[in-house]
Order: sequence, then structure tokens, then C-alpha cells
Amino acid sequence: MVYIFIKIMPKKRTYKSKEKKITNRQILEEIIRVDHAGEYGATRIYDGQIAIFGKDSKLGKTIKHMADQEQEHIDKFNELILEHRIRPTALLPLWNIAGFALGASTALLGEKAAMACTVAVEKVIGEHYQEQIELLKDDHKDLKKTISKFRDDELEHHDIGIEHDAENAPGYKLMTKVIELGCKTAIAISKKI
Ligand SMILES: [Fe+2]
Ligand SMILES: [Fe+2]
Repeated sequence: MVYIFIKIMPKKRTYKSKEKKITNRQILEEIIRVDHAGEYGATRIYDGQIAIFGKDSKLGKTIKHMADQEQEHIDKFNELILEHRIRPTALLPLWNIAGFALGASTALLGEKAAMACTVAVEKVIGEHYQEQIELLKDDHKDLKKTISKFRDDELEHHDIGIEHDAENAPGYKLMTKVIELGCKTAIAISKKI
């Protein structure tokens, strides 16, 4: 008997439309809206911490370094929101108060607790930025670059928190879980509202 094996090679798919290379407008809007909100919240968290520690204390200076980078981030997103004509989240007044309260309350618990707050927030933001880099297509290469740079800054902030003994804060595990959950909720809401 003769057996004939026919190997069916999967045909290489070709995409005629340019759809694959163009970022969906709704995704772009959500990315810029939520990042603008998040960076604003970040500046308020560090404002809250600096209000407790003072900007001239040793830890205050470290926090000021991170706060200055957050200011660069929010300045950039302020530009992008205008450039792309994107409505900012309606919840900025809430993030103003909630961010400051989170920063100040963790700082009142002590230096390690403040750093634990940084670790939790920056971990979520770093991961969030990484997801966005993967969502953006070739039509937004500059934005991808910007977000990559900011992701690196956020991960540096995360590492600063670890270096300052965040993990030895009382109740570190519970506190970081609660803050992470809060950040993820804020992200989900700020994309839409
Ligand atoms: Fe930032
Ligand atoms: Fe940060």
C-alpha cells in the first residue's frame, strides 16, 4: 500500500487593512485619561508625605526626588491631554484629596510605612504602564517611548521604597495589598469616568 502524506501548511495570513497598526481611539483615550489621573494622584501622594516629613529632612529629600519626577510625568500628560483632545477624568478632585490623604496617613504611620505605600503604588503603576506599552501600536511610537521612560522611573521609585526598608513596616503585607487594590480600582474607574 502506498501512503501519501499530505502536509497542509498553514497559509501565512496577510492583513490588507492597516487596522493592526493603528491604535484604537478608545484605547488611546483611556490610556491618556488614566495616566493623567494617576500621575496627578502620585504628585498628591508625595505632597502628603512631604507635608509630614518636611522637604528638608533626609527622607523628605528622597521623596522630593520622586515627587519632581511625578511632576515631569503630569506635565507631559497635561500636554498630551490637550494635544489629543481627551477629556480628563471627572474624578480629579477626588484623587486630589485621596492621594494627599494616602500619602499623609502612611507618613504618619512612620517612614517605613510611607515607603511601603510607595512600593505598593509604584508596583501597580509600573505594571500598568507595561500593559499599555503592549496595547499601543506603531502609530504612537512617541507615546510608547514616553510611557517606557515613565515606567522605568516608577520602578526606580518602587526600588527606592524597598531600599528604605518598606518591607519591615508594621503590617506591610496587608497594607500593600489594600493600597494595590485601591490603585487598581482607581485605574479602572479613571479610564471611564
Ligand atoms: Fe509617575
Ligand atoms: Fe512614581
